[in-house]
Amino acid sequence: MNASSKPEVLGIASGKGGVGKTTVSVNLAVALASQGKRVLLFDADLGLANAQIALGHRAPFNMSHVISGEKSLADIVTTTAQGVRLIPGGSGLLDMAALGPKEAAGVVQAFSELEEDLDYLIVDIAAGISPQVMTFMRAVQRRLIVVRDEPSSIADAYGTIKVLSQEGAADQIYLVPNMVDSQAAGEMLFKRIQDVSLRFLGQPLHYLGSIEADEMVLTSLRQHKPLVALAPGSLASRNFRALANEIGQLSPLEGSLGGLSFFIERQLS
Ligand SMILES: Nc1ncnc2c1ncn2[C@@H]1O[C@H](COP(=O)(O)OP(=O)(O)OP(=O)(O)O)[C@@H](O)[C@H]1O
Ligand SMILES: [Mg+2]
Repeated sequence: MNASSKPEVLGIASGKGGVGKTTVSVNLAVALASQGKRVLLFDADLGLANAQIALGHRAPFNMSHVISGEKSLADIVTTTAQGVRLIPGGSGLLDMAALGPKEAAGVVQAFSELEEDLDYLIVDIAAGISPQVMTFMRAVQRRLIVVRDEPSSIADAYGTIKVLSQEGAADQIYLVPNMVDSQAAGEMLFKRIQDVSLRFLGQPLHYLGSIEADEMVLTSLRQHKPLVALAPGSLASRNFRALANEIGQLSPLEGSLGGLSFFIERQLS
């Protein structure tokens, strides 16, 4: 890894599946890239090449080739039409759950051989709280937990926060309410979860803004184009750009080792 490169490492998680992790990862990556930031999106949801599909990108190789030893990470990195560097996820044959903890740690460690000058590494983490998912959660610097205003999503987001808190990896947790009716509704959802988290876990959470429900999200998925590129004026696109701006304004983390080395050393400790 290039010593001058000190990317921020953001993990996008959710607990429950299907609540918008990939939508947030992809659109945040494209929004940051369109602001001139150098972004690498790592699709760590190894089961399906979700991020690749959402970006409308076809890559010949993906993480399954890295895990089988046929390719190195550097071999499979590609650049999408939107200028985002992408490490494609699995082929559908490989389940994240089939990865042993050692292999998951190996995937994280493989980043040490990657020479990329980056501002942001965004990791689209699989659903659930399996040991493999937690390996990625520990390795990132900031954890963005996507949550919808429905009981199962809230319960699973809380469950994720609880495990992180028990593991002592609970600093830098950000809630990203998704598919909400308004910014005010999103902030209320954040406050509800933050109240419970403070009361039962003593765990504060951070808030950067919400993503509103927008039917253009589905249109963009159907067209295999990220929303912020397809319909920059849409409601959710504006929300994604606002989220990117908020992230850009966060102060660098104190005591961070910086960059991809952080991604490696954090999970080894
Ligand atoms: N803000 C939004 N407005 C409308 N629809 C949305 C929004 N965000 C996500 N969706 C829809 O929710 C569905 C799931 O989104 P997405 O694939 O991003 O979730 P995920 O958490 O990555 O799922 P998985 O756990 O399967 O990886 C998609 O069909 C998408 O169209
Ligand atoms: Mg996904």
